[in-house]
Amino acid sequence: MADTCRACASPTECFIDFGRMPLANGFLTPDQFDDEYFFHLRAGYCPHCTLVQLIEQPSRERMFNERYPFFSASSARMSAHFAAIARDLLARQLSMPDPLVVEIGSNDGTLLRHFADAGIRHIGFEPSASVAAAASAQSVNTLCRFFDADMARHVVAEHGPAHAVIAANALSHVADLHSVVAGIRTLLAPAGVAVIEDPYWADVVEQTAFDQIYDEHASYFTLTSVQALFAQHDLEVIDVVPQPVHGGSLRYLIAPAGQRPAAGRVADLLARERASGLHLPATFAAFRDRVTANGDRLVARLQELKRRGQRVVGYGATSKSTTVINRFGITSDLVEYISDTTPAKHGTFTPGAHIPVRSHAEFATAYPDWALLFLWNHAAEVRAKEQAFAAAGGRWLGYVPAVQEW
Ligand code: SAH
Ligand code: TMP
Ligand code: ZN
Repeated sequence: MADTCRACASPTECFIDFGRMPLANGFLTPDQFDDEYFFHLRAGYCPHCTLVQLIEQPSRERMFNERYPFFSASSARMSAHFAAIARDLLARQLSMPDPLVVEIGSNDGTLLRHFADAGIRHIGFEPSASVAAAASAQSVNTLCRFFDADMARHVVAEHGPAHAVIAANALSHVADLHSVVAGIRTLLAPAGVAVIEDPYWADVVEQTAFDQIYDEHASYFTLTSVQALFAQHDLEVIDVVPQPVHGGSLRYLIAPAGQRPAAGRVADLLARERASGLHLPATFAAFRDRVTANGDRLVARLQELKRRGQRVVGYGATSKSTTVINRFGITSDLVEYISDTTPAKHGTFTPGAHIPVRSHAEFATAYPDWALLFLWNHAAEVRAKEQAFAAAGGRWLGYVPAVQEW
């Protein structure tokens, strides 16, 4: 168990403790209930480089393996988002002869497929065999390995340097940040660019999106912490662009130091982060108090609905739901089951609380009175898709940024 910063080795300060927690994606069957794995979910922040991080994290092999159930393609919104990243890179960054694109955490190939289709050399690093197999099946060149500094050296020795390196929602999943960031530096050609995208800690705070905190998310970045981390590896943030995905993300464009001028908005956002007090203990304390208040309110509302005999079904067996369900003691007494579109999750039970997960077809054939929206980060996509539920009198219950009904 470490209490030193994974980016700068200074001591971290714990600011939120969720207690005993299972793996967020550890969906399981009854024969596995007895030896379910738990760890202590706590987050700390580093007063020196400001990185927010888990104090303890399960081993990477325990989280990312042949049972990993999250497929990027499960969200149409994210598929479109990745298509746009590919289009943009193809149009603006890859005009050199025979470019090479490397993706870290390439999952089911949703993004790299666009490069494969365009005949561009590409390599995806994806350690979870379940999703890596889906990528390989679509002819996306995938190595079922954890990316690290060694892997980067192998790639460069065999294929030459990369002209684009992409890591979407991947760097936040990595315990050994230095190995991966050093690997990115090794990979990049002098004119190369890395596109890094992760949930933005400032948005987590602003929306009290506390369920973004779970085992897989080792780090919660800001521009301040990303800049401090990458600078240690001779890399520079040359641009930063907010993204309306996963409840608010930041895209960082990174280049070898001194190769490209940095856009003015990098300095602007650094100043805004400093002015907003994001790094101050009082900000963390206020966040923690809002989390407790919102969770307690949600449970009180679920108990009231139960007393009134209303049926409540969860919508989206998300990784985030594991944090809210287990921290606030939500059981199948309060939420009958959780509807999800991922076949691999059907017939399983949620980590820790063991609420059944069932198909979306089941939801659609017998609408409950209420749907508890665990998929709040895809609210617009869900609302558009579930007009019939609303038309049938179905109501939504949400808890981010606060408990609300619609
Ligand atoms: N990029 C995809 C997947 C995000 S989930 C998207 O945005 O939808 C995070 C992925 O990173 C998982 O598929 C996990 O298996 C993978 N991963 C975790 N550690 C990794 C590492 N060290 N190298 C490469 N991939 C990793
Ligand atoms: P995640 O929050 O861990 O990424 O998981 C999202 C889950 O939500 C995944 O299992 C797919 C599911 N899902 C639905 O059930 N319906 C939807 O409309 C979308 C977008 C996702
Ligand atoms: Zn630090």
